[in-house]
Amino acid sequence: MSRIEDVLSIISDGLQAVTEGCKLPVRMKNSEEWPKAEVISIRQVKGVLQYYVHYVDYNKRLDEWVTEDRLDTRKIESAQGKDEKGHNNTCHTTGFNTPKKATTLSASVSSSRPPSPGGEEPLITGPTVLQAALQKKTARKRKSQNSISADTPSQPQDVNQSSEDVIDGGEKKDGDKDKTPSTPRLTGSLAAPGTHDDAITRMKNVELIELGRHRIKPWYFSPYPIELVTLPCIYICEFCLKFVKSRICLERHLAKCNLKHPPGNEIYRKGSISFFEIDGRKNKIYAQNLCLLAKLFLDHKTLYYDTDPFLFYVMCECDSKGCHIVGYFSKEKESSEDYNVACILVLPPYQRKSYGKLLIEFSYELSKFEGKTGSPEKPLSDLGLLSYRSYWTHAILLVILGTKGSEEGEPPQITINEICEQTSIKKEDVISTLQSMNLINYYKGQYIICLQKDLLDKHQKEMNKRAQKIDSRCLHWTPKDWSKRSK
Ligand code: ACO
Ligand code: ZN
Repeated sequence: MSRIEDVLSIISDGLQAVTEGCKLPVRMKNSEEWPKAEVISIRQVKGVLQYYVHYVDYNKRLDEWVTEDRLDTRKIESAQGKDEKGHNNTCHTTGFNTPKKATTLSASVSSSRPPSPGGEEPLITGPTVLQAALQKKTARKRKSQNSISADTPSQPQDVNQSSEDVIDGGEKKDGDKDKTPSTPRLTGSLAAPGTHDDAITRMKNVELIELGRHRIKPWYFSPYPIELVTLPCIYICEFCLKFVKSRICLERHLAKCNLKHPPGNEIYRKGSISFFEIDGRKNKIYAQNLCLLAKLFLDHKTLYYDTDPFLFYVMCECDSKGCHIVGYFSKEKESSEDYNVACILVLPPYQRKSYGKLLIEFSYELSKFEGKTGSPEKPLSDLGLLSYRSYWTHAILLVILGTKGSEEGEPPQITINEICEQTSIKKEDVISTLQSMNLINYYKGQYIICLQKDLLDKHQKEMNKRAQKIDSRCLHWTPKDWSKRSK
């Protein structure tokens, strides 16, 4: 046998050892990297085996179906964490070297999709140290929170029911309410991860969605009706978020859909940016359709059906054709933990254009109107953490830089509480941000803040980059006391 045939025969022998749950090096899409991946599922399409893999140290949105040529079957860790010889997580060796890992991430991964913090032996350097520490802290907190979880949604409904109304995202009947939950449920918070962590919900199930003029590839599982997930594309009305199975159905719907913007009240408008406030109780179907859509891009939380306790703030870009959804955040009407955001999302075509920070800024503007400080619901996703860190850093710097010294020439002074009051950022987030920025020094019995020139330059650059800022004069909103109303 030639060496190539030899290799091929070993690889094909190895394929039999590839089972669901095993781990092995897999070549990532558009890359020469072979990170370790877990095989979640195996299927056969037109006689060809395909493997759904999750790259162990990476975010699940990079999970994908691969064919056998991308598997390195020479280093398999079997499902139970033991190889055939009973060694713990050792690798099958066949005498050949595994492909060398590239030392840098591929452009597609490093530029737009950072790997998840944490995971197995991640490279922890520079800012990653903080991220990893925060992630650990969040995980610890989540553990203790989950054990006393106050998240008790009202009667869940089965999303995969095949009633016509549900298939096209229409009105649901009250009679469906007491079904046993066989799928995740929908609320504004998408809280409490891990309850449905089986192979089905670990895999992307929707191929593509069409929303207005965008065609978007989903990142994660979302419990759209089973009849729709088998189709190549789900068509969604960009105004009412009703979902249908074909373009013809969508056209039929659009002919009679009279919405040109989200339902609810337009509470903010400046230039082409608008915010609508939607009550999850009054506009239940819209709220549930929004949660289903959001779940395609939010993984760390599970869907709940009860949208009643939430308000949804949908941000739109408006033009002559209507108000087009860019992103949203949900917010509990009453939060015992001072959360001012439950879930936050910018749809992928609009990401990395500062819309995320605009949404975050808006959420704190609402808190300012309420006279409170607030914080996002935990856990945060990897991208959520990056966005909040970036927002907090610049919001805090703005306040510090705006602090004036006394007329007698004393240096400017500010307390943490004053920073909280001016930004509405919760104290613990202010402190963790100041710590991560490494700004605070202890000198002669006093805490002093030293701002280095490169930090100020970076801050200025960021401020110049952000064309849009929330203008509080354009917010027409009065907070409601939900404890005195029916939610
Ligand atoms: N890679 C690296 N850094 C990123 C990325 C990315 N893909 N996306 C955002 N960031 C960081 C950057 O630091 C960026 O600042 P920059 O100007 O220095 O680049 C900062 O986050 C914010 O960037 P924006 O452009 O304002 O954020 P964007 O519009 O992309 O929205 C959001 C951020 C909402 C987190 C978006 O990525 C998203 O919807 N992701 C999917 C859903 C999600 O994870 N939501 C947060 C969950 S946490 C919760 O719900 C409470
Ligand atoms: Zn519609």
